[in-house]
Parts: sequence; structure tokens; C-alpha cells
Amino acid sequence: MVSYKELGLVNTREMFAKAVTGGYAIPAYNFNNMEQLQAIIMACVETKSPVILQVSKGARDYANINLLRNMAKGATQYAHELGYDIPVVLHLDHGDSFATCKECIDNGFSSVMIDGSSLPYEKNIELTRKVVEYAHQYDVTVEGELGVLAGIEDEVSAAVSHYTHPDEVVDFVSKTGVDSLAISIGTSHGANKFTPEQCTRNEEGILIPPPLRFDILKEIEKKLPGFPIVLHGSSSVPQEYVKMINQYGGKLKDNVGIPEEQLREAAKSAVCKINIDSDGRLAMTALIRKVLAEKPEVFDPRKYLGPARDALKQMYMHKNIDVLGSANHA
Ligand code: G3H
Ligand code: 13P
Ligand code: ZN
Repeated sequence: MVSYKELGLVNTREMFAKAVTGGYAIPAYNFNNMEQLQAIIMACVETKSPVILQVSKGARDYANINLLRNMAKGATQYAHELGYDIPVVLHLDHGDSFATCKECIDNGFSSVMIDGSSLPYEKNIELTRKVVEYAHQYDVTVEGELGVLAGIEDEVSAAVSHYTHPDEVVDFVSKTGVDSLAISIGTSHGANKFTPEQCTRNEEGILIPPPLRFDILKEIEKKLPGFPIVLHGSSSVPQEYVKMINQYGGKLKDNVGIPEEQLREAAKSAVCKINIDSDGRLAMTALIRKVLAEKPEVFDPRKYLGPARDALKQMYMHKNIDVLGSANHA
């Protein structure tokens, strides 16, 4: 058993309480390798933002849980070395079973998500409560989910979506004892959230997708005043990176993500954790493609992963400062 406290990590409790009253959201960025982690830590230290490092099942399969845990430990030391101790959470993203959550808790994670959203309601409650009972013995915080997000992305898939029913949230939270709740109000996983046909165009010709269901969010907030709400599937799919990828031989569709203004609005409410993975993938891939296309003589990975890391860092800084509002809250 490794406690996250020995690793210099924190759980989400205090972080969320401050974010809810402060009108901002904590960034929850997924990582799978060193360059992504460096970019996240550099950006969050430079903007003085708390951060949630998210590890998916795909990440654990790819990078190994021991390595990831020690990387998170190293990340807290790296932040210190960079000159500012930011609060760092190591969080299991989309835990699919009690066994997965237990393994992560026993291996130094300070927060876990148990995603029972595709189960029948009572089964979701049962599974989530079991995880909460185990996690709370070790002061690990738990995120549950109600409602199903659309989108198909690797390990996390749901062909259909249904919005969270506000009538269920009080019952779910009180019966499970979760510390935060992920809801479905129109976001979805992956880089293909909305096709151009689903959007309208503004005066500048920019595609605007249908707005998030802020009415549902407001109703949920009314039922659970001050309770931490989580938004998954919150990448904005920056068009500059989609274009760059396609310019240098990629083949991405012309689809769009969640507009930054809508995320900013959500962050001012009880939404206190915003999950972003796909945007990091896009920025990294764009820069790697660009460098390899423009400098075909390059074969040192540092020569293309370095510029990718720089672009990632800039993007995360922008999100912390201009979108989530988490800058200067560490
Ligand atoms: O929400 C899902 C994340 O984007 C994780 O994706 O399973 O491919 O690592 P992944
Ligand atoms: P995106 O695919 O929109 O980045 O969402 C990531 C996410 O929700 C991770 O849990
Ligand atoms: Zn997610």
C-alpha cells in the first residue's frame, strides 16, 4: 500500500471547495508520457494553478501504473524546483470497476473516478458507494457520474448520450457519498464533437456548435448548492492545430469542440473540474508533424518532442488563464 500523502500529492476536497466559491475550475489534464507531464507542470507552475493529473485505463496500459505514480511524485518535486509548490492530484479517469479503483488507491492515487454511468441507476449507486467506502478509509476522494456522454474515443465509448436528470442528483449523491459528480450537458469525448452540419456560422464564418445545456446545470446547482460538478469531454479542438495536422499530411475531419466562452461560463458556476485530453493530443501531433515535415533530417526525438512540449505548455497556460480561470489560485 502506497499512500498518496507520501508522494506529496493532495486529494480534491480543499481544491474543489475553493474553486466552487472562487468561480473557477481546476484543470484536469490527461497524461501518458514525460513530455505531456512536463508541459502540464510547467504551465501550472508558471500560471500558479492547482492541477489534476488524469490517468486513463489506456494510459495505465501504455505507461505502467508504477511509472505513472512515480512520475506524479516527481512532478511535485519538479514544481518545487521550478519555484512554486502547486497542489497536485493524481486521479484515475473513468475507473470501470471496484478492482481498478482499489488498485489505484493502493498505488498512490489521491482521487478516483468510478464511472458507472452506463449501468442501470441502482447498480451505479451500488458500485459507486462501494468505491466511496473503500476510498474514504484512505482519505481518497471519489468522482461519480450520472448521465451518458456521446462520442467514441478509444477506451471510453458511448454511441448515444443522455443528459443528466436533475431529479436524480440529490438521491445519487446522498446514497453514494461521492465527493464530486460528473454530469452530461452536451459535451462529448474526442476530437469530433460536432460536425459542421450540426453548427451555425457567426459573422466571421466561424462554426458555432449548439450551446451546452446550461439550464440543466442550473437546475442541478439548485438541487445541490455548492456541490462540486465535473465536466468531461471539454476539449475545444483548436482549429489551428487541426489545420496544422492536415497541412502536414494528417487526415482529421473538419469538426469542432466546445467553445472556450462556454467553458468559461461553466467554470464560473459549480463546475469545478474540467477534463481536457484531446486538445493536448492535437497540439502535440501538430507540432511533431510540422517539425518532421520541415526538417526531414531530424531523427533525435528531443528535436520534435521538445517543440511539441512547448506548444502544449502554451496551450495549457492559455486554458488556465483565459478559459478555466484557475491561474493564481494555487
Ligand atoms: O476520457 C477519456 C480520455 O480521453 C482517455 O482516453 O483511454 O485513450 O487514454 P484513452
Ligand atoms: P476530451 O476528449 O474532450 O479532451 O475529454 C477528455 C475527458 O473527458 C477525459 O476524461
Ligand atoms: Zn471523460
